[in-house]
Amino acid sequence: MQTDTDDHQPEAGLFQEIEKIQGRLSWGSLLDAGTGTHSIGWVGSLATERWTAVSGAEAHAAQTADAIAAKRRPDDRIIVGNWADPALLAGERYDTVLADYLLGAIDDFAPYFQHRLFARLRPLVGRRLYVVGLEPYVVGEPDSAEGRIVRDIGRFRDACLLLAGEQPYREYPAQWAVDHLEASGYRVIAAKRFANRYKERFVNSQIDMCAPRLAKIADRGLAAALAARGEALRAEALALADSANGLRHGFDYILAAEPA
Ligand SMILES: C[S@@+](CC[C@H](N)C(=O)[O-])C[C@H]1O[C@@H](n2cnc3c(N)ncnc32)[C@H](O)[C@@H]1O
Repeated sequence: MQTDTDDHQPEAGLFQEIEKIQGRLSWGSLLDAGTGTHSIGWVGSLATERWTAVSGAEAHAAQTADAIAAKRRPDDRIIVGNWADPALLAGERYDTVLADYLLGAIDDFAPYFQHRLFARLRPLVGRRLYVVGLEPYVVGEPDSAEGRIVRDIGRFRDACLLLAGEQPYREYPAQWAVDHLEASGYRVIAAKRFANRYKERFVNSQIDMCAPRLAKIADRGLAAALAARGEALRAEALALADSANGLRHGFDYILAAEPA
């Protein structure tokens, strides 16, 4: 589980934005369909009747359980499972379902399942589904130096993961998600996007997470060349982030959908 790639998450406000969309509607029972310490912290702060949190990885589920231990009630559940398994939470239904950076992580757990994800979640959605995602930023040709360095860091990180035998995330555009929600029995009732500004913490975390991956590469010459490339990217990105007060590039998005 590449928890260290989650560092792009803007501190300010995606969950607060979901609260605004939710308005006076009660949260009822809630499913955190791709859980982690960030989303469970928010879920634990809401007036829910009960919640269920799903992770594809034991270690990630354990981390999440630790993070929420003090606030967890007897009916709140943390489950390890895979949405590609039809038996996972079969027959259950939740008033509110949250898919927080789940779509981009699917490639690591159920490759080529992305186009079926929203249909798979559909019977579980009683009232409202919230999708939080990240516009792909390792593809395309950015039109600024800030965009190019963020893209290059993403490509470098993904190359290290692949060479170490791991699966990088694959993000999907908001429009792709809207199209697949509409084709999967939902009506999209709100769509918002938020410009990202990547700071020093992002740069360091992405380069640092490559070190243990490089250690696994048998060709030590290649590993050393990649390590040097990582340090060059770090130096260039930190200098630019410092002078530009962060690296402005790309968008996070929130989609709110209801059963059609
Ligand atoms: C990027 S993390 C989500 C971030 C999380 N909401 C947080 O607060 O940090 C992705 C989560 O989705 C889970 N996941 C990805 N693919 C999955 C699948 N096919 N079935 C079940 N869980 C999956 C991962 O195990 C992980 O818990």
